[in-house]
Amino acid sequence: MFKPNTYKGTRVFISGHTGFKGAWLAFWLNILGARVKGYALEPYTNPSLYNILDLENTIESEIGNILNSDKLNKSIRDFQPDIIFHLAAQPLVRQSYIDPVNTYETNVIGTLNVLEAARKCKSIKAFVNITTDKCYENIEKDYAYKETDKMGGYDMYSSSKACSEILSASYRNSFLKENGFLLATVRAGNVIGGGDWSNDRLVPDCIKAITTDKEIIIRSPKSVRPWQHVLEPLSGYLALGEQLLNGNKEFAQGYNFGPENTSVLTVEDIVKLVIKYYGQGNVVIKPDTNFHEACLLMLDITKAKTELNWHPKYNAEQAIEKTISWYKNYYSNTDMKIFTSKQIEEYM
Ligand SMILES: NC(=O)c1ccc[n+]([C@@H]2O[C@H](COP(=O)([O-])OP(=O)(O)OC[C@H]3O[C@@H](n4cnc5c(N)ncnc54)[C@H](O)[C@@H]3O)[C@@H](O)[C@H]2O)c1
Repeated sequence: MFKPNTYKGTRVFISGHTGFKGAWLAFWLNILGARVKGYALEPYTNPSLYNILDLENTIESEIGNILNSDKLNKSIRDFQPDIIFHLAAQPLVRQSYIDPVNTYETNVIGTLNVLEAARKCKSIKAFVNITTDKCYENIEKDYAYKETDKMGGYDMYSSSKACSEILSASYRNSFLKENGFLLATVRAGNVIGGGDWSNDRLVPDCIKAITTDKEIIIRSPKSVRPWQHVLEPLSGYLALGEQLLNGNKEFAQGYNFGPENTSVLTVEDIVKLVIKYYGQGNVVIKPDTNFHEACLLMLDITKAKTELNWHPKYNAEQAIEKTISWYKNYYSNTDMKIFTSKQIEEYM
């Protein structure tokens, strides 16, 4: 875990702060006393965590496209950050089949634009590029991927993130060796937590079905994923960011952040837990063979444990319990800024 004071007064630039993980990260860093600026498109879900947490008025927020390099350069230059967490992306596998060009433009060219903007800004000491566990070549075997495994990706989302990884390594070699900022990449598993209303994600799909009295439709009940609460990978990103901010060059590389093996559950197991904690919901299984998605995905987290002393705190059941509790409170009109702060305090 990172030291609570590390981010106090630190200038943190987050791309993708209007999205699910970016909003949690921006809110958490604000609690830690950081000076936070976010840059992203308008939130594309309604409701959105960004609006619920009132981030527009809590941090410095700019609505902009990472493909607009002039605007992005100015945004970063004006803010003079110490560190960048780059989360802006087209993050959905199914959407990448529908719009492969936008997926590649955003995830590859967009990442290059953020790196280039960072290279022009001398204040930056550290850069954390958020990719995914799907960046590894999936061999569909009972095997947990290590950081040294081959990059790959059957679908366009996964391969675009593998490209983002390769781009980062090449960028580090080409431009950052002598006195550039320290650049690391992070690969997390399937993240769950309150405030996600994206399409084609398991827990948000369950919540939308339950709250509108519809059946929960699942496509691949036996698919296995490393499920984890959103605060888990974010705490890993912050721990890694701390090392980079301290100038520890050996941390400028790739890290996996996933759950313990016991939290690697099937889609069906997760839905059963959602129904248990919500206290309602009916499932229907409708296999969809139109889109290929990996069936088996696990991460080896030994490196983060040994080098960063980072350890998951919640198992899958606890992660679901916290997530469902968040949504139930939201739908009961609880003050979600207070509730979200409490979940963060509890985690810390
Ligand atoms: N949620 C998960 O389970 C998960 C798992 C592994 C990795 N990730 C990665 O974490 C990051 C955040 O994911 P999320 O779940 O919060 O996604 P999200 O869809 O909720 O948020 C994506 C963010 O990126 C921004 N964005 C997209 N295109 C942009 C563009 N062209 N210019 C500027 N901003 C743009 C959106 O406005 C939004 O703020 C992504 O890089 C994703 O690939 C997510």
